[in-house]
Amino acid sequence: MRQFYTLSDFDFRDKRVLLRVDINCPLEKDGLKILNDSRIRRVVPTVRELIGKKAKLVIIAHQGRKNHWDFIPLNQHAERLSKNLNYPVKYVDDVLGDKAKKEIMSLKSGEVLLLGNVREIDSEAIEADMEVHADSEVVTALAPMFDYFVCDAFGASHRSQSSLVGFQSRLPSASGRLMMKELFALSAIFDEPRRPSVFILGGAKFGDISSMIDHVLSTMTADTVILTGLAGNAFLYARGVDIGEASFKILEKELTDENLEMAKAVLNTYGHRILLPVDVAVERNGKRVSVNVGDMPTEEPALDIGDDSAEKFRKVIESSRTSFMSGPAGMIEKEDFAIGTHVLMKAMIDSKGQSVIGGGHTGAAAERFNLSDSFAYTSTGGGALESFLMGRPLPVVEALKYSKEKFPK
Ligand code: 3PG
Ligand code: MG
Repeated sequence: MRQFYTLSDFDFRDKRVLLRVDINCPLEKDGLKILNDSRIRRVVPTVRELIGKKAKLVIIAHQGRKNHWDFIPLNQHAERLSKNLNYPVKYVDDVLGDKAKKEIMSLKSGEVLLLGNVREIDSEAIEADMEVHADSEVVTALAPMFDYFVCDAFGASHRSQSSLVGFQSRLPSASGRLMMKELFALSAIFDEPRRPSVFILGGAKFGDISSMIDHVLSTMTADTVILTGLAGNAFLYARGVDIGEASFKILEKELTDENLEMAKAVLNTYGHRILLPVDVAVERNGKRVSVNVGDMPTEEPALDIGDDSAEKFRKVIESSRTSFMSGPAGMIEKEDFAIGTHVLMKAMIDSKGQSVIGGGHTGAAAERFNLSDSFAYTSTGGGALESFLMGRPLPVVEALKYSKEKFPK
């Protein structure tokens, strides 16, 4: 028996259902338009099923973080959801106020309402008892108006915020279809990966990457880790390569002494199981130029893996039976520096093994190359997927289990 309820466990007809999703989307910096709505498309099956079952459906979600540039209301999200559903979605730019209450209480069976950005009032992500989250402002205000809570926010399942883990103690709660699919697909692939298994880790965030590398290599989830993007540059530096002032500047913020020591330690422990770039690509006179690591430092910053690295990594990836990419290999916004990511993604698809990508930027890159349908699995999770792969319990899943215990049938 499952440890938590799913949509098949309850009769939602004429019931008020609160659905928490993760439709946090990448935005254009100027204009703040949604750049890629794949997370919105991925929750469509759950929303459609609840509409079909004639629930009175209210959706809560977040975008960005308070006081960050990407913190905006959700009117665009409502429009996009409506377009993808081909069904009207109401929007009210309010979460707890009278406007929201009025709309929630007047909703009819089969109607859908999206509330404003829940991070206007959500708690910080704090490790607190579920009952503490249940006493939060957001749960106290909303829970009494609902019969059921459904969580389909896999992408945020690693965050202990009240809107994600607080309702499960107050309402009988179920997992949505996307959560189920993510957990099932990822377990099927990574619990016993087919070998050889290659992890390609890149992107801009690398602060915590050494613990991830240590975990996947020590548990043999991966046989080999390939490092690209800023992580690749950081590890070259850790190995003693003089990468040059310009490349170093970009790393500086995240490359603390502690991170540097950890990078050196995993390089020592795992040796040849960690592959670093043999060359990097820089922009010289408006052109992409590959420079061997032996010929560094370069005046220009490294913006991608070089052509020899792409070729070397391609061979390793093509002969793998499991491949996973999180984070692009270079600055994909510039066409010439998207080449490394493109070559590696093609190799993953050509490998005939199980290829998995995760994280918002990686997914967006795959869509840009028109490759998103070619992977065995595309996860909506970035940080959540990382937690999953590191074997850490996901707070949202724990809260769903707790709800089932608290509301036995
Ligand atoms: C994400 O995109 O990582 C999730 O939506 C969670 O957002 P956060 O990283 O801002 O908590
Ligand atoms: Mg995140």
